[in-house]
Amino acid sequence: MSEFANRLLDWHRAHGRHDLPWQGTRDAYRIWLSEIMLQQTQVDTVIPYYQRFLERFPDLASLAAAPVEAVMALWSGLGYYARARNLHKCAQAVMARHGGQFPGRAGEIATLPGIGRSTAAAISAFSNGESVAILDGNVKRVLCRVYGIDGFPGARSVENRLWALAASLLPERDTGTYIQAQMDLGATVCSRAKPACGRCPVATLCVARRDGRIGELPSARPRKAVRKRSARFAVILTGDAVLLERRPPSGIWGGLLALPEIPEDDDPTSWAAQRYGLAIVGHRPLAPLRHAFTHFTLEIEPQLMHAIAAAPGCADDGPVWQALDRLADAALPTPVRRILEALPPELGQL
Ligand code: ADE
Repeated sequence: MSEFANRLLDWHRAHGRHDLPWQGTRDAYRIWLSEIMLQQTQVDTVIPYYQRFLERFPDLASLAAAPVEAVMALWSGLGYYARARNLHKCAQAVMARHGGQFPGRAGEIATLPGIGRSTAAAISAFSNGESVAILDGNVKRVLCRVYGIDGFPGARSVENRLWALAASLLPERDTGTYIQAQMDLGATVCSRAKPACGRCPVATLCVARRDGRIGELPSARPRKAVRKRSARFAVILTGDAVLLERRPPSGIWGGLLALPEIPEDDDPTSWAAQRYGLAIVGHRPLAPLRHAFTHFTLEIEPQLMHAIAAAPGCADDGPVWQALDRLADAALPTPVRRILEALPPELGQL
């Protein structure tokens, strides 16, 4: 047996959790339910939900036959609701495809709705004693630290390496206990922020600890370079109104009233005069501002211009003269509102 597994098994006998409500059963239904609830949710939060759920749905058949709304209601407060929808779908799939019995092997369990490779392995190890490795977030963290594995563990190549490592460490017997020990170690000792290395059974094997790299491992998700775009927005004032245009219904700021964008190579004054038939009498840039979209950052350079004759136009697709003292009523994108609300009040009175 690997030294890692040996130490984990010893540690679990003395320090692991042995009295959780889903332990001490081989009922795949109960084990599956607990594993789904425990994804992204802590043990203490899960316990009362697990108990209420089992009172209402004591077996797979009762869950499969229930309306999905009843399942959602009992899940309410646990979050990540796709889990509950998949739970219901999975119960129905096990009824339809497997006559109400969970399949006996992890590979087959993993084909059911909402069950990934690691959860399937845990269910099979806990309910059938199958000897298969798990690799959830906690286990990834422990392995990256103990074996000094660099690279973001969510990256395909790193994950493949971790699966191979996890399989090589697996003991031939006591797989269920070993898996529970890995989960407990990750949750209670080798935590993300402040691991308790003083209590860790594998501290003397741990490469990250030896090299002072506990804070660096596992490696963070690589940050995507944020794309940047810059745009000049025309702030054309006349009297106490500003010229806005309604954005097309689809795309950024669809349907909102926005400041028009000045084409890249155009001179602001000539562009505005020509496009709107206005006499422009002054032009100066205002302080730039940044606005973050999901996929890029827009660097906005507002260009202030004064017009002496406003076109009356309020045609559906034409410009809209928006009174500066009625901005609260208008549907404006946030950065446009910020630009207009930052204008000194006397500006409109030129
Ligand atoms: N997280 C996921 N599965 C778990 C389990 N069986 N025990 C404790 N925490 C877990």
